[in-house]
Amino acid sequence: MRKLEFKSTIFIFLFIIYGVISTPPADPIQCSSNNTNCTITNSNGVFPDRSICRASEVMYPTTEAELISIVALASKNNRKVKVATRFSHSIPKLACPDDNGLLISTKNLNRVLKVDVKLLRMTVESGVTLREIISEAARFEMALPNTPYWWGLTIGGLISTGAHGSTLWGKGSAVHEYVTHIRIVSPAGCEDGYAKVRNLNESHQDLNAARVSLGVLGVISQVTLQLEPLFKRSLTYLTKNDSDLGDELITFGKKHEFADVTWYPSQQKVLYRIDDRVSSVNTFGNGLYDSIGLRSTPSSTLTLSRTTEELQEATHDTNGKCINGKLTTETLAGIAYGLSNNNGTFIGYPVVGFNNRIQSSGTCLDSLDDQMSTACIWDSRIKGPFNYDTAFSIPLSIVKYFIEDVKKLVQLEPKALCGLDLYNGILMRYVTTSSAYLGKTEDAVEFDIIYYRSKDPLTPRLYEDIIEEIEQIGLFKYGGLPHWGKNRNIGFVGAIKKYNKANRFLKVKKKYDPKRLFSSDWTDQVLGLKEGVTILKDGCALEGLCICSKDSHCSPKKNYFCRPGRIYKDARVCRLHVKT
Ligand SMILES: Cc1cc2nc3c(=O)[nH]c(=O)nc-3n(C[C@H](O)[C@H](O)[C@H](O)COP(=O)(O)OP(=O)(O)OC[C@H]3O[C@@H](n4cnc5c(N)ncnc54)[C@H](O)[C@@H]3O)c2cc1C
Ligand SMILES: *[C@@H]1O[C@H](CO)[C@@H](O)[C@H](O)[C@H]1NC(C)=O
Ligand SMILES: *[C@@H]1O[C@H](CO)[C@@H](O)[C@H](O)[C@H]1NC(C)=O
Ligand SMILES: *[C@@H]1O[C@H](CO)[C@@H](O)[C@H](O)[C@H]1NC(C)=O
Ligand SMILES: *[C@@H]1O[C@H](CO)[C@@H](O)[C@H](O)[C@H]1NC(C)=O
Ligand SMILES: *[C@@H]1O[C@H](CO)[C@@H](O)[C@H](O)[C@H]1NC(C)=O
Repeated sequence: MRKLEFKSTIFIFLFIIYGVISTPPADPIQCSSNNTNCTITNSNGVFPDRSICRASEVMYPTTEAELISIVALASKNNRKVKVATRFSHSIPKLACPDDNGLLISTKNLNRVLKVDVKLLRMTVESGVTLREIISEAARFEMALPNTPYWWGLTIGGLISTGAHGSTLWGKGSAVHEYVTHIRIVSPAGCEDGYAKVRNLNESHQDLNAARVSLGVLGVISQVTLQLEPLFKRSLTYLTKNDSDLGDELITFGKKHEFADVTWYPSQQKVLYRIDDRVSSVNTFGNGLYDSIGLRSTPSSTLTLSRTTEELQEATHDTNGKCINGKLTTETLAGIAYGLSNNNGTFIGYPVVGFNNRIQSSGTCLDSLDDQMSTACIWDSRIKGPFNYDTAFSIPLSIVKYFIEDVKKLVQLEPKALCGLDLYNGILMRYVTTSSAYLGKTEDAVEFDIIYYRSKDPLTPRLYEDIIEEIEQIGLFKYGGLPHWGKNRNIGFVGAIKKYNKANRFLKVKKKYDPKRLFSSDWTDQVLGLKEGVTILKDGCALEGLCICSKDSHCSPKKNYFCRPGRIYKDARVCRLHVKT
């Protein structure tokens, strides 16, 4: 016990020291020569099914005119195409073209084209990052009120998967709700010169397809966003027990504009983010939220943390995980999660500051050298955390029952979810009903669950049955909608049937890309046009590639067998059972 605590202390100690030297994330596209013979991956360095994705070539247009000629040539030659971004943050295989096809990177489509301070609008090329949008808007005293918390995403990529922040107010939490205009280049017939620019504004129905398009309609060239005058907000974190979480979740979300909630089920604790707009920009305070998890972290810290967790997994040391989980939670609370009040130090709550300094962050993007002494936590070039990210939304009207189910599982296995606390618990964000055909169908809470993934696909995890049951309860018992840019394969089983406007989306897809050049096996599977979202093979359930239906889908050799859920009998999960 003593030894364990010692280890944990080192872990935490290193966790809060930051180097100045950091390394920018790797280029997800690697080519053997001259932008040909390439592979593409995601920011985790590996897709859910661990397949390697090949592309024969990558092109880097710098203007819309170049983009049009690239799409035209591909269309003329019936070549498969996918759009790739500078960092490729989506976890599923969305960026992978079939048939060793062509990649069109938006890396050099990175200019702000127009800032209209009168109409409070901004037009950008699709490869511009969220970070640039936020800072450019702020320079003109404007704000994009709600955005993802990580600013390393591109506008083209993030709207394509419905990425969001957290609110039930106003236009809602998804960035695509603020999109008023999209220019998209799609393939066309000979009569149109093989490519066509679709210029979609709010009076075009098709904008509802283009807002969340999974990249299958063509290449988004430009996006116009509706902004607001820049404002300040006031943020206080409050910890409570989770006894009334089910009811409180709804009331709380309605009460505070930028509310979110973090749940530590094993500790029966909840962290409420009380976060509201203040009435005047003259309110005192220049607060900053430089989120700890999105800062550069020393490689040595990341390696120690991974090594510790691997050891705990290998030795079934659940107590160790609980201790480290609790320490992580306490440490993060002690340093206010990366918040500071006025001069870079945290004095106390509330933290008051401009929206552009509070909503999103990600200083691990800043680069000074390439020595890998510090990096983003998920950087796959160093041995560090390697995780799954399961994310789905459950309608407000039934979210209480989901919470109760998770609590029941915790009652049965109090230590099963300790590992989540190493990644700061379950983040719950408010998402809103959308007119986008593939946007959220109801106001809901999006659950984001990050947990250990083994480097070896055939090695089971501690308490893997409990998290698998939660995943299946969320997705199937309560019909949760998966985040298009996160999740393991099983997240997308039957997903498209949960969207009442999916047919309208498919119609637009057919109209814009009749030859299906921008479609791939993965997008066809996700859109319900092809079988194969799940992959049946030995150990498939361990990786979320299937729901187990026989023991070999788990790991009978390591005593993990396919069993019904504890409280959701329709679930099929891999459970440890040591025969005596
Ligand atoms: C560290 C991290 C933090 C995250 N934080 C959040 C968060 O707070 N909230 C949230 O909702 N999500 C979050 N995500 C998920 C993320 O928002 C999505 O995965 C997002 O789609 C990634 O954007 P990207 O620019 O990296 O695009 P990519 O992942 O490269 O692309 C996504 C899809 O869009 C297509 N695409 C990209 N650009 C274009 C274009 N110009 N035209 C047509 N198609 C295009 C691609 O082909 C692909 O199909 C996070 C992910 C990571 C790794
Ligand atoms: C790269 O392309 C150029 C021009 O197309 C060609 O001259 C050169 O030989 C190519 N280099 C390699 C390594 O293929
Ligand atoms: C393509 O790249 C792979 C490695 O990714 C290499 O093995 C192969 O030889 C390359 N092919 C050509 C034609 O360059
Ligand atoms: C939308 O575009 C059409 C042309 O396609 C134009 O006539 C109309 O005025 C535009 N509407 C708005 C709201 O900009
Ligand atoms: C949780 O907190 C409430 C007050 O907010 C208190 O009444 C209740 O007893 C607490 N429950 C537990 C289990 O500590
Ligand atoms: C910030 O620092 C300056 C100079 O050190 C000091 O004058 C000022 O009072 C500080 N502001 C706050 C709010 O602490």
